[in-house]
Amino acid sequence: MIIRNVNLETVCGITSPLPENHLPEIAFAGKSNVGKSSLINGLMNRKALARISATPGKTQTINFYNINEELYLVDLPGYGYAKVSEQEKRKWGQLIERYLHGSEQLKAVFLLVDIRHAPSANDKMMYQWIVAQGFHPIIIATKLDKIKRSQKDKQLKLIRQGLDLVPGTVIIPYSSVTKQGRDEIWDLVETRYLQTDGKEAKEDGDKLS
Ligand code: GTP
Ligand code: MG
Repeated sequence: MIIRNVNLETVCGITSPLPENHLPEIAFAGKSNVGKSSLINGLMNRKALARISATPGKTQTINFYNINEELYLVDLPGYGYAKVSEQEKRKWGQLIERYLHGSEQLKAVFLLVDIRHAPSANDKMMYQWIVAQGFHPIIIATKLDKIKRSQKDKQLKLIRQGLDLVPGTVIIPYSSVTKQGRDEIWDLVETRYLQTDGKEAKEDGDKLS
């Protein structure tokens, strides 16, 4: 993907209406601090357009980044951030739910998990819930630079088993430091969601049915 222009076009809070976009949307979900905004910056070749922070809970809105007037990358608020009130957590949950359930243009959901850890109960819930919404999520295992190369396969297996992934589900290891995995993610997005030959793709990450 050649990035010609990127624009943070819409920022959607808990009381905002969702935009009625006409381009395909690709969303990134995952717990707070897992690296969603970092990944989006990496995909856009921008250092800090999507705001990143060492403090979890940075992204509290749904942010739509228009890429080349071709598609949107959608940065979702992270879940599982302990320091917000139950009420706030519920509201974010409702916002994410409203989006995943209601967007007409949402073509694929990527679920990010930290490659260093077994998936949490929240990760499992999120995975199940995305599947229940009719998607077949692609998993991104983030922070690849933080483990030894020799640990990679073991960690990927832990993630596959922990999430109880549907057989054949793609897991892409990614590092926002080295950008390893970036091209693979764009290749997948381009071949599956930006082709206009009218073919119905039925692979991982596609909306089922
Ligand atoms: P919320 O907005 O709170 O939901 O978090 P987020 O998922 O958007 O995470 P963010 O991209 O803000 O990254 C959180 C922290 O992890 C930051 O300090 C990043 O620099 C760091 N980080 C993200 N990805 C990587 C990675 O691949 N490798 C390393 N070493 N650090 C990373
Ligand atoms: Mg973020």
